Formats: sequence, C-alpha cells, structure tokens
Amino acid sequence: MQFRFPHSHLLGTDQLTADDISVIFTLAEKQRKSIDSKQYPPVSTPGLRVVLAFFEDSTRTRVSFEKAAQRIGAECVVFSASGSSVSKGESLTDTMLTLEAMGTDVFVVRHREDGVIHDIANTVNASCINAGDGRSNHPTQALLDAFSLYRAGVDFRGFKVGILGDVKHSRVARSNVQLLQTLGAECFMYGPPELMPEDDVFKAVQQVGSINELVECTDAVIVLRIQKERMQETVLSSLSEYAEHYCLQPKHLQHKPDLHVLHPGPMNREIEIATAVADGPNSLILEQVRNGVAIRMALLNLLGEWH
Ligand code: CP
Repeated sequence: MQFRFPHSHLLGTDQLTADDISVIFTLAEKQRKSIDSKQYPPVSTPGLRVVLAFFEDSTRTRVSFEKAAQRIGAECVVFSASGSSVSKGESLTDTMLTLEAMGTDVFVVRHREDGVIHDIANTVNASCINAGDGRSNHPTQALLDAFSLYRAGVDFRGFKVGILGDVKHSRVARSNVQLLQTLGAECFMYGPPELMPEDDVFKAVQQVGSINELVECTDAVIVLRIQKERMQETVLSSLSEYAEHYCLQPKHLQHKPDLHVLHPGPMNREIEIATAVADGPNSLILEQVRNGVAIRMALLNLLGEWH
C-alpha cells in the first residue's frame, strides 16, 4: 500500500512526531539533491493546485514556496492581500472560499493574527500549511532550521540549542522549541528581560544570564529578529543599547569554533548579529534559505497526496 503522510494540514510543529519529521527530512534530502543537480524528479502529484495566500509581508517564505511548487510541477498562484478585495472589506472567510472555488488543493497561508490559519483549515476543504501566524507558529521555518542542522551532521539527542533575542514575540522560537524538543534537543534562551516569554511552550527552556553563557552551554544559536511590528509599546529604549548587550559578535565565538549560527531572516545586521558572524564560517543562514525550498517541496509532495 502506498504511504500517505498522516496529516492533511501542517498548522504547527506540535502536531509532528519524530517519525513525521524523519519522513519529511528523508524526502527533503532527495529534493535538496535534485535542486543541487537541477534534475527534478518526475511530478508525483500531477495537477496539484497551490495558492499562496499572504496577508502579511514575506520574502523568504513566499518565494521559497513558489519555487517549491514550481519544482514539483504544481500550478501555483500567489495571492497578496495588498491590492486585493480585502481593502474593500471582504472577510477572510469569503476571500478563502472564493480562492478555493477557483480550484485549490493546498493553501499556504501567512497572517498576522494568532490562530487564524486553524480557523481557515476548519472552513475550507483544501489542505492548509501555516506559513507564519502572529507570534504562534512558523512550522516550515522550524523544519528548515532543524533540517539545516541535520545536514550539518547534528544528532539531536542531547544537542543543545540557544535562542537569542526577542523570544517573546517570535513564532520562529515557539515552533523551534517544540520541534527541537520532539527531536531530543535541549533549548536555552537569552534576551532583554522584557522580551522573554512566559507561555507554557518555554517551560522547559532554561533562561541564561548573558550571550557568553548562552554560547558556552550550547552547540548552536538561533538569533532572532527584533519584531517591532508585534510590540505593543516601545519596549526597547534604543537599538544601539540593544546591540551593545544582545548582538552576536565574533568575540562571542572565540572559544566556540564549531558553534552553528542560524537566523531566520530578515536580519538587522549589527543590531542582532554582526555581519562578520552572519557571513562567517559558523553561519548556516544561506543554507537555511536553500534548505527551505527542499523542505517545502517535500511538504507539498506529502500533503498533495491527499488530493
Ligand atoms: N523567515 C521568514 O519567515 O522570512 P520572511 O518573513 O521573509 O518570509
């Protein structure tokens, strides 16, 4: 009997088991090799119709999904809320039902509000992939981050990952903590006290007292973007002050030559991460971008089997 992925939607990392992640990584590895060789495999889901519904800005995730859909031979339409009938007051439900009525098997949705994509998945018949909602979830980012570490030779059992910066507002951090813990890794965090989270996702994440301590006790550090758009008020007195205390710099890596450094992008260089680190030998940042296309090809293949 042909294998079918057990999930018809990907809404959050909390739904994935270690076996699910292994299936995704195995297929993504094949897709990554196909990208590198430009020898794409035969179309496995002919006629698959993908709509990228983006209600919030994006560069990496949107283009990555578009390339992924093209490379598996799917039809792909990109819908951006700006310039659409959303500006005339059309509701989210009506917009999604309209897009589905035109023929959609898989929706890839980004939205600024937490949980909206779960509501959409309950409304439409198509599969839904969460491309980032509010501060809650960004499952494909977490998958590509872990896949980048896996490709760098990491065994996640006992592996230690530090998360640096604006953890409180970060959907990337929430999805990464859930996924990395499922794989057997241990997570640590450091950032401004007002940007440390209090929700349950982080209950097993140890908070440390400095960047040096974070680097010292971990094997990889994920640097986060300061998410000014999700801050209710000015919680940071100045960016230069932030950079002084929380910017990952070459001096922090002096005693950790093998530390892996990740950043989901977009980066604020010299505020969250020094250019010498972002572009240096420890950085996996462009590998994350490359692997993102492979992970998204794999997911479209797996969810496409439902249609
Ligand atoms: N990492 C990420 O989600 O980047 P974009 O906002 O550019 O998609």
